[in-house]
This record gives sequence, structure tokens and C-alpha cells, in this order.
Amino acid sequence: MSVNKHLIAPSVLAADFANLQRDVEMVNQSQADWFHIDIMDGVFVPNISFGFPVMNAIAKHAKKPLDVHLMIVDPDRYLQTCKDNGAEVITVHYEATTHLHRTLAAIKELGCKAGVALNPHTSVQLLKDVIQDLDLVCLMSVNPGFGGQKFIPQTYNKIKELRQLAAGVNDNLLIEIDGGVTTANAAQLLEAGADVLVAGSFVFTATDPIETVRTLKDIDINSKQA
Ligand code: DX5
Ligand code: ZN
Repeated sequence: MSVNKHLIAPSVLAADFANLQRDVEMVNQSQADWFHIDIMDGVFVPNISFGFPVMNAIAKHAKKPLDVHLMIVDPDRYLQTCKDNGAEVITVHYEATTHLHRTLAAIKELGCKAGVALNPHTSVQLLKDVIQDLDLVCLMSVNPGFGGQKFIPQTYNKIKELRQLAAGVNDNLLIEIDGGVTTANAAQLLEAGADVLVAGSFVFTATDPIETVRTLKDIDINSKQA
């Protein structure tokens, strides 16, 4: 396993929306791998973030893939729009999708990576029969809807359980952790088996966001374990 293969995805939800281009350029210049784009509908989650016109504006300046996290009911309605506005990864919520297998196929049909997000209370075992169809699982380590919340430690166990569930069936599965990620928990998340760390407020409220991304990217669990 190569060192530091993990990905860092700053969540634009925590950016300064009045200076969005500036913040997008910051992520471009940093060692971040993806832009994490949180789309909320005020129904599935008790908040509304921004919609596709804003995502499109981000895509015009972004030099890295857009990882889109749809916190909306019946996401099938917006998959094509999502693709048309620059998404490379599309993640839907298990709890908001009636025919998950069909939705995942539709995302792949668009040429995007297909992901499913699980709320903190949702068991990873529910993915047993679609595990081979997934490119990514986003484990919510806070209840979705808001940035800046406290990390839920049960996430460590969920990562390990999911890795076991995927072993031998989908060894390329990306496990993404979303919510409350900081340097206080990042190494332990990676040791448990996480591949992608989303970080919103920790990056965007930092005095030096570029350096903060570098710190997250430079965490080397291999040398620590050696
Ligand atoms: C929460 C969003 C997260 C959020 C993370 O519903 O899905 O992506 O932006 O923000 P922090 O890192 O501040 O917890
Ligand atoms: Zn998110």
C-alpha cells in the first residue's frame, strides 16, 4: 500500500459564499483532491444549502473533481442535472432513496462514480446486497444538515465493519467520512480504514487553510504503524 493514498475533500458548505471564487482557488492551490459539494433540500435535512446554479459556478473555477453529496428526497429527479453541472461523484442517501440499486445504476450510466451515504443511525449491514455496485460509501459522522458539528465516535466501528463487509467483494470501495473531521480524529479514521476525509469548518475557518489541508493530507499512518 502506497503512503498517503487517502483523499481530502474540503466541504464548500463552510466557504465564504460572498467570496466563493477566492475559496475555490484556495482549494485548487491546496493539496486537496476533491471539492465536496453539499446539496440540501430542507426536507430530508432541516436546512437548505445551495442548488445547482451555485454548483455550476463552482465547477467553472474548480480544477479538481466535484464530489456531490445529495441530502435530498427522491434524488433520481436530479441525477442528470447533477452530471450536467459538473459532478464526478454523486452520493445519495440510503434513507432518501427507495430503489437504491436502480439509482446507483443510473448514476453509473451517467459516467459518474456512485456513492451512498448512511446517517449515523443506519447500519452498514444494510448495504450487504449492493456492496459490489458501489464506488463509495459516505459514513456520516454527524447528523447531516449542518457544518461545524461534533464528531460521533461510533464512526470508527462502522468503518471497520464496512471494510469487513466489502472485503473480497469490493476491495476498491472508497470509504468517505463526513462531519466533524479534524486533526484530532483523522489519523484514527484512516487507521480504521477510511479513504476520503471531508472537512468543512476545520479547513475554511483555519488561519491558514492551505496548510490545514496539507496537514490532513500528510498524515502517514504507515510510518506510525511501522
Ligand atoms: C453535513 C455535510 C458536511 C459538512 C461537514 O451535513 O454533509 O459535508 O459540510 O462540515 P464539518 O466538517 O464542518 O463538520
Ligand atoms: Zn457532506
